[in-house]
Amino acid sequence: MDFKELVVNALKPALAGQLDEAKIAALVETPKSSDLGDYAFPTFSLAKILHRAPKMIASDLVEKIDAAPFEQVKAVGGYVNFYLDKISFAHEVLKAIAQEGDHYGNAKMGKGNVPIDMSSPNIAKPMSMGHLRSTVIGNALANILAKVGYSPIKINHLGDWGTQFGKLIVAYKKWGSEAAVKTDPIKNLLQYYVEFHEKAEKDPELEEEARAWFKRLEDGDDEALTLWRWFRTVSLAEFNRIYKILGVDFDSYNGEAFYNDKMDSVVKTLEDKHLLKTSQGAEIVDLSKYNLNPALIKKSDGATLYMTRDLAAAIFRKNHYHFVQSLYVVGNEQREHFQQLKAVLLEMGYDWANDIHHIPFGLITANGKKLSTRRGNIILLEKVLNDAVDLAKQQIAEKHPDLPNAQQVAHEVGVGAVIFHDLKNERLDNFDFNLEEVVRFEGETGPYVQYTNARAHSILRKADIAPAPEVALSDPAAWDVLRALGDFPAILVRAAKEYEPSVIAKYALRLAKAFNQYYANVKVLVEDSELPARLAMVKATTQVLENALHLLGVAAPEEM
Ligand code: ARG
Repeated sequence: MDFKELVVNALKPALAGQLDEAKIAALVETPKSSDLGDYAFPTFSLAKILHRAPKMIASDLVEKIDAAPFEQVKAVGGYVNFYLDKISFAHEVLKAIAQEGDHYGNAKMGKGNVPIDMSSPNIAKPMSMGHLRSTVIGNALANILAKVGYSPIKINHLGDWGTQFGKLIVAYKKWGSEAAVKTDPIKNLLQYYVEFHEKAEKDPELEEEARAWFKRLEDGDDEALTLWRWFRTVSLAEFNRIYKILGVDFDSYNGEAFYNDKMDSVVKTLEDKHLLKTSQGAEIVDLSKYNLNPALIKKSDGATLYMTRDLAAAIFRKNHYHFVQSLYVVGNEQREHFQQLKAVLLEMGYDWANDIHHIPFGLITANGKKLSTRRGNIILLEKVLNDAVDLAKQQIAEKHPDLPNAQQVAHEVGVGAVIFHDLKNERLDNFDFNLEEVVRFEGETGPYVQYTNARAHSILRKADIAPAPEVALSDPAAWDVLRALGDFPAILVRAAKEYEPSVIAKYALRLAKAFNQYYANVKVLVEDSELPARLAMVKATTQVLENALHLLGVAAPEEM
């Protein structure tokens, strides 16, 4: 059921010897206004080759084309416009959606494992808005890739190793309290860490102690490990509260520490391949031929670095998962780090480094201001989500005071609103976050899409007869909805190719708008011969809105 193919097939014989199938397909476009047909073929590039007026070419083509599969084919200026046969289009689309249900839109773009490095907050530090973005974008990409045939593996590459743990241990031992860490772990651990830096400015001795403690940790010292493990457990418990609210889970929590015993072999390979150089006491890989700054592999005191652990992780993922692609959903500010990572792997002779893709994203500001990752934000993030739920609750109370399980629905709407807002913006855009706007039931919001879906469900509940996709639907008012429904499979493929969940979110808004417009103009439940077909379209709309929302990780309550 690919209607563009119908157009390409019709053009193929008429253009034999001039353009091949792929070139034709690349040229076929969707006109801005549906008055100009459903597809259009521009003849301007042919005009240059054939030295003939585009208008002439277009009218010649119309003569040659078999118009039988279409309602109409006509030349307008330099275009050949194709009008689909609306009844058979409606038929095909509604039948496909009814048959395929949750699987409508599934594709076979590729297969194989795709590890997705996502979320990855740092132990003993608050989870930032950036980590929230990475979590929801990564989760949506996992859903999208699964639907086009891949096997995604969601990896939370926790920041649970590094010299900062030496500092944290020193700070905790000197001025920390077990009770404080137990009551409010991240807030207090962060506080110790900040205090460490303040005190170390006056007392450089502290830095030495921290280095020694990190060394003990790397060497497997009992006391160091016990403290580290405790910090990790209590931090993770806080992160898990947020993941639970968001409804996101992971296949692996192998963070940086997991690679502690896998780095020697990386360093050894680098040495064997003569890639390591000493620069100011540190070991580096020179990447000037890639136009990149050198990659830091070992500090002058022998401690390994973020990059070293990422090299070990990349190699581990290749060997362990045999990935076909390996994704890293990490903020744009780490762009160079991932360029360096790929470059070092290529220098090591690993061609598969070309299958590594950094999926960067932009910054969130709140009411115009950059969000700091400073203290207390862990509470803020949870607070944002809880406030969103409260706002949703208020609106539900106004619109639907007797809604059963209102609490559950408020949760789905409030949290869904925050996720949807994050995903409807193109990944790389910076955007502002204003809770009131995010949770509105009107406008380009998640609740608007959810509300449209619930409204469609309520129509279906009121109907006395069953939807029937085989009944003809000829009402022109239904056309925009039908077109949108038919576009979903192509939209999904585009989202997967571009690693861009916003394509799905924008599509959900388009379908919801088309449906609401239809609903404002047409009395769906009137008993006439097309009623079963209209109901089939309403049902198809709920199905596809739900498919789209699920891909984004947003719930779709049937009543709200
Ligand atoms: N923990 C890092 C941070 O908060 C993100 C880790 C991203 N993943 C990776 N493999 N480097 O900045």
